[in-house]
Amino acid sequence: MGKRTLVTSALPYANGPIHLGHLAGAYLPADFYVRYKRMRNEDVVFICGSDEHGVPITIAAEKEGVTPQDIVDRFHEMNKKTFEEFGISFDYFGRTSSPVHHETSRDFFRVLNDRGIFKKKGETQLYDEKAGMFLPDRYVKGTCPHCKYAEAFGDQCEKCGTSLSPSDLIDPRSMVTGEKPIYRETEHWFLPLGDFQDDLQAWLDKTENWKPNVMGQVKSWLNQGLGDRAVTRDLTWGVPVPVDGSDGKVLYVWFDAPIGYISATKEWAELKGDPGLWEKYWRDEDSDLIHFIGKDNIVFHCIMFPAVLMSYDGYILPKNVPANEFLNLEGQKLSTSRGWAVWVHEYMKDFEPDLLRYVLGTGLPETKDADFSWKFFQDHVNGELADIFGNFVFRTLSFAGKNFDNKVPAAGPLTNEDRAVLGEITRLKNEIAECYETFRFREAIQKSMNLARAGNKYFTEMEPWHLRKSDPDRCGTVLNVCCQITAALSVIFDPVTPDACRRLRDALHIRNAGWDDITEQILTAGSPFDKGEILFKKLEDDVIEAQRQKLEDQTRTLQASTTELEPLKDTITFEDFSKLDIRVGEVLTAERVPKSDKLLKLTVDIGLETRTIMAGIAQHADPEELPGKKVTVVANLKPRKMMGIPSEGMVLMAETPGGQFKFLSSEADNGSTVS
Ligand code: MF3
Ligand code: ZN
Repeated sequence: MGKRTLVTSALPYANGPIHLGHLAGAYLPADFYVRYKRMRNEDVVFICGSDEHGVPITIAAEKEGVTPQDIVDRFHEMNKKTFEEFGISFDYFGRTSSPVHHETSRDFFRVLNDRGIFKKKGETQLYDEKAGMFLPDRYVKGTCPHCKYAEAFGDQCEKCGTSLSPSDLIDPRSMVTGEKPIYRETEHWFLPLGDFQDDLQAWLDKTENWKPNVMGQVKSWLNQGLGDRAVTRDLTWGVPVPVDGSDGKVLYVWFDAPIGYISATKEWAELKGDPGLWEKYWRDEDSDLIHFIGKDNIVFHCIMFPAVLMSYDGYILPKNVPANEFLNLEGQKLSTSRGWAVWVHEYMKDFEPDLLRYVLGTGLPETKDADFSWKFFQDHVNGELADIFGNFVFRTLSFAGKNFDNKVPAAGPLTNEDRAVLGEITRLKNEIAECYETFRFREAIQKSMNLARAGNKYFTEMEPWHLRKSDPDRCGTVLNVCCQITAALSVIFDPVTPDACRRLRDALHIRNAGWDDITEQILTAGSPFDKGEILFKKLEDDVIEAQRQKLEDQTRTLQASTTELEPLKDTITFEDFSKLDIRVGEVLTAERVPKSDKLLKLTVDIGLETRTIMAGIAQHADPEELPGKKVTVVANLKPRKMMGIPSEGMVLMAETPGGQFKFLSSEADNGSTVS
């Protein structure tokens, strides 16, 4: 066994299902890395779990009118299953509501408190009088002081990315009642990050191979100077603060959640029947700790959690935090609230995990934001997995199967071409390993595909179908070379497409081959293999179109059901209202207005007279269907010219939240007054 490594992926909040953005950020790259290490037979443990505390959970519960416990139970089970089925190969998937976690995080707090690490300070904070509660983090929304975005959260502006504290918001409003909060005095424990500035800097100076996007963010935090961070909250949902005089307070979710990595490792060790084993991974300098996260988690993993670990003493610090940027979807920002997301459990109803693993892998947002589209998915599945990797394997195994009786043919003397393409196995294997070790997964995958590409090119150029008759020995040599490349691919691609690779290794009867077995002579001549099967099927256009349609439908349904209704207007007096002369009328004629795609010109009988009225409904109504329609009309509006035509009134319409227009009809005779 080689080196010991503990790999973690950010604990997803148990408040919703896992989508492609999650996968591309913290889970898939970690899984590639871990599977690669396992192929190398290294000692690696892969830990994750549900983040079950914090405001995201309670808000989700309030929205649905259920308890926070209901929410976390549902999504913990669901996400655990999704990860399993998608082949994210955690050794353990815990949850932060577990007793071990409560005890571990309380112990951390107690120890730090006893050591005098924290500052306890009074502070005025936003308070919702109607709900009778403080409003930390996402319980308030308001206008961002930096970019003026009106929907900024109390902890972060999602528009400009600045991290905020609730009192920074302009015009704050409570997410619980919608009320304007007041300020009220409260007391909290703070972690004075400034005290750790030098130690953090010294640790970071010694790290290697950090991604520039991550190091850049961390440096900018350090350069700004670190302040005090509250590590407690006035909330009821969470880990209760374990010291006297802290009633009604819980640990800040970002204090307890990263400790969840430790708690989960303890539970894993317990299950293995070796309860002390977790310490080897957390408290032994010979272990490497690697955190896979999305970029919004950088400060917590590179500053706050390390400061906590340093204060406790005896813990190792992360060796690397390969955070990814964000994944967009079809050119737009992913948004779960708008339904603009592809859910992994939905994806798996229609496709195999391998396809998405490969395609997301080729387009990971490693250094900058990246985009996923269904077209991109189709192109990469068809053009690479099917046409290059799948095709090479299939033509090799079916040709060798047919002509050499399902046995690896013997190789005669090797030509320069043979040696060159076999040399690619060793060369690429080493380069790919280097990519994995340094978290460059896109490149690792590209190079893996290059081996299949080289194999395909060789097969085509050697034309074994001609050699079959003219020079059977030479034909055998060519196919031997192709079989070696196929075998190499079945190991090299394992981190990315584990199911297909497992099937392929089974077909080659080398199920347990690992990274060190990848040589230019993996298979011995005469060894049997099963007949070639298609590894990856091509995706037809209609299948892809259906996915795009599903996305559109999903976002439309969600928008219709959640669009907020217009707020009520200010009160008016009866006198104000009685100034309006509203009449029942009937449309006599309706026609389009040249050069206007909005306006229809109507003539309307309002009993006393016939009016010409311009109505902005051309996109919502068919003029031919309007004559005879009963409507209501504001009859005493001052006439106004529209497209040069005077409009003598206004037809009343209801506008739905979905943006559609409907007439207000009345059965009454034309000319009747409405009041
Ligand atoms: N739940 C957080 C998120 O989804 C991540 C928590 S990571 C941990 O952004 F380190 F706190 F566990
Ligand atoms: Zn902003």
